[in-house]
Amino acid sequence: MEQARTFFVTGGAGFIGSCFVRLVLAEMPAARVVNFDALTYAGNLDNLEGVEEARHRFVRGDVCDPEAVLSSLDGGTDFLVNFAAESHVDRSIHSAAEFVRTNVLGTQVLLDAARAREVGRFVQVSTDEVMGSLPERDDAFFDEESPFAPNSPYAASKAAAEHLARAAHHTHQMDVVTTRCGNNYGPRQFPEKFLPLLLANARGDEPVPVYGDGRNVRDWIYVEDHCRAVLAAALKGKAGEAYNVGARNARQNIEVAESVLDLLGKPRGLLKFVKDRPGHDRRYAIDPAKAERELGWRPRESWESGLRKTIRWYEENGEWVERARSGAYRDYYRKQYGE
Ligand code: NAD
Ligand code: DAU
Repeated sequence: MEQARTFFVTGGAGFIGSCFVRLVLAEMPAARVVNFDALTYAGNLDNLEGVEEARHRFVRGDVCDPEAVLSSLDGGTDFLVNFAAESHVDRSIHSAAEFVRTNVLGTQVLLDAARAREVGRFVQVSTDEVMGSLPERDDAFFDEESPFAPNSPYAASKAAAEHLARAAHHTHQMDVVTTRCGNNYGPRQFPEKFLPLLLANARGDEPVPVYGDGRNVRDWIYVEDHCRAVLAAALKGKAGEAYNVGARNARQNIEVAESVLDLLGKPRGLLKFVKDRPGHDRRYAIDPAKAERELGWRPRESWESGLRKTIRWYEENGEWVERARSGAYRDYYRKQYGE
């Protein structure tokens, strides 16, 4: 019989965290999840619609608040999986303070609480962006030995969080595992990120803003594949190790945009080249060999199948899109792109 594992998931009302919560509940019939999320502009309870209530408890709370964290974190919880973060690079360029608060201070608060409550394992969900930008060559990849060189305030705050998690392992012998993934796409992504923005604008025959020359390369992965890797790292990873997660799917932004326009049957004339992001990293590409070898993990979706699933989900969930695109999104859109 499956062991009844307990998870404390932070940021579980966001895009990736909510997918992880669903995955754990679906794949581990005896597992229980406490989902701790502050519900910032990016947190959305709609993302948890239909999630089984008996094994899932939602707590609204801030990871920077030690009392709130401690009062919801049961002693002996098996896994604390930290997704909570300010996650949008462009927002970190407008203003970095909140990124330092949540991503750096919040991670330390969680590490301290996990130690106090004797949590079995701490999983830090990190990003390929901590390793900076690769040269524009097809044979250059990030692996686990790549040096840190974060270039945006977001990436720097995630790098600091990783260092704190690493230090907790080294100093306090905490069981810490880190994952570093590339660009996720799939259902329930907050609409200001490139792929959902592209989808929504193209469907509405609005211009799609492409930064700079559109030749920046990102390594795309279907969100559920990322979550499967995080779960595999929690269950099978080695304490103190980091695992790079990717689906060997590095593409130029312009290629990504053209694939989506073609699938939607929309003209490429909708692409509008706009002013570049300051400090825009040129290329990310991940070598996931270690995760494949040591965690026995493999992505299940190809770019084509993942993209088709994603497009179908947004087509079938117009109400989710409408609600997510109202409120905070509108103000941000005006500030970033003008009217
Ligand atoms: P998201 O912005 O969609 O969601 C973040 C969630 O964290 C939201 O639900 C928000 O309410 C919550 N949150 C923010 N501040 C909080 C606080 N102070 N206390 C408690 N909760 C708070 O982000 P996402 O895209 O789902 O990313 C999740 C994690 O995965 C982040 O740590 C991010 O750095 C990492 N990551 C993201 C990607 C990607 O492509 N999106 C890739 C690699 C790693
Ligand atoms: O690589 C992993 C990272 O991927 C995660 O750690 C971040 O949380 C996540 O937001 C994402 O960061 P990016 O900056 O790569 O994602 P974004 O969707 O903002 O942009 C993807 C690419 O598209 C990037 O090269 C910038 C470009 N872009 C983005 C927007 C919003 C455009 O050309 N136009 C746009 O309007």
